[in-house]
Amino acid sequence: MTEPKKLFIKTYGCQMNVYDSERMAESLGASGYVQTDTAEGADMVMINTCHIREKASEKLFSDLGRLRPAKEANPNLKIAVAGCVAQAEGAEILRRMPLVDLVVGPQSYHRLPQMEAKIQKGERAIDTEFPPEDKFDHLPERKAMRGPTAFLTVQEGCDKFCAFCVVPYTRGAEVSRPPERLLAEARNLASRGVRELTLLGQNVNAYSADGYGLARLIRELAGVEGIDRLRYMTSHPNDMEDDLIAAHGDCPQLMPYLHLPVQSGSDRILKAMNRKHTAADYLRVLDRIRAARPDILLTSDFIVGFPGETDADFQETLALVREVGYGMAYSFKYSARPGTPAAEKPEVETAIADARLQELQALLTSQQRAAQDAMVGQEVHVLYEKQGRQDGQMVGKSDHLHAVHVTDPAGKPGELVRVRVTESKTNSLAAVRLS
Ligand code: SAH
Ligand code: SF4
Ligand code: F3S
Repeated sequence: MTEPKKLFIKTYGCQMNVYDSERMAESLGASGYVQTDTAEGADMVMINTCHIREKASEKLFSDLGRLRPAKEANPNLKIAVAGCVAQAEGAEILRRMPLVDLVVGPQSYHRLPQMEAKIQKGERAIDTEFPPEDKFDHLPERKAMRGPTAFLTVQEGCDKFCAFCVVPYTRGAEVSRPPERLLAEARNLASRGVRELTLLGQNVNAYSADGYGLARLIRELAGVEGIDRLRYMTSHPNDMEDDLIAAHGDCPQLMPYLHLPVQSGSDRILKAMNRKHTAADYLRVLDRIRAARPDILLTSDFIVGFPGETDADFQETLALVREVGYGMAYSFKYSARPGTPAAEKPEVETAIADARLQELQALLTSQQRAAQDAMVGQEVHVLYEKQGRQDGQMVGKSDHLHAVHVTDPAGKPGELVRVRVTESKTNSLAAVRLS
């Protein structure tokens, strides 16, 4: 028997990249690779990249710089670049970076075994096509499950073309996977001990295949034996259909948590961003969701310093945040991305954008604290994911996706338990087990 080759994957970006990394590892398993958790001693290092902001994509080049000595010491070391930077700048990467052996875009990674065979012959390989075949039909079955939670990509790509965003270019047009395949994958995951699924898509609530929308898919997945919890992300406010909102009210497996990015509270900026909704439209969607599920925890994404954003626009963002009361939210300083319409426009001064980001983050942090503190004394369910750092401690997530530490020496990963929250810490809750 030949010694397995070691594969180290470093993953940047969104949850879909996390999912893709797992599937790429499984795909390279067919070529004799097993995953390791350090680059040292690896036969292949793969960097799964993110192109969303300049800082994210720069990480690739610093990582490659750091790999240079290892490649010089061991010319047999293979270096692969995957993900959204690979898609956007693949040819350029090969040209500028002689140490890179392989470049693969997010839609072609089912072809990795053939590409790997090519680089073993000393050639370089690049595939950044949007192939006509469905990559998911050509990937091995899922097997490397790390615990009771898993991601499941149900939809990929985006047709929305927000003026700031590279995703429609790096991930391509919206494609939804057939429901029967997703149900099969879910059953397989459940048979491997998965109890919670997070359905992924760049525009997951635009899911549409074989007469199924996301709501119907969720209802079917909720019927899969062993699947106790479902979540989905990321959604667009314009695709929150009535049946999906209704599912939040009457599907017990669908968790009371919704990530619904709004980006800005200013109608002028929303229009310039090509979001195709106003702040009031967004608030109306939230009203409908809260009517269906009053305890839902809402989260969002914000961009500050979008070209043309005035202080008055920014005040409208703050006002929207105050009105909604988020359980958590991400906020980013606008980053001009090559090839996007907004990149043509004059930028807001850095110091102003920095100050706005700080002010928004302070407000969001205080809301997050308040939402977390409000859990103290409450009874919640927690799905144990793993042992905690302290003896006799388990960690997992509540229905609202709060991280919870529970003192429970007999606890095991995969148990779904009822706990009482005793304390709200910086980024987690402490609790005692009830049953
Ligand atoms: N499909 C999702 C996620 C897109 S990327 C959605 O529609 O919301 C995640 C977040 O990154 C976005 O919601 C946005 O807030 C942020 N983002 C995207 N492009 C950006 C850019 N050019 N500069 C700063 N933040 C950006
Ligand atoms: Fe990007 Fe907008 Fe599509 Fe989200 S909806 S992926 S922000 S273009
Ligand atoms: Fe980044 Fe691509 Fe995801 S740009 S956020 S890895 S879709």
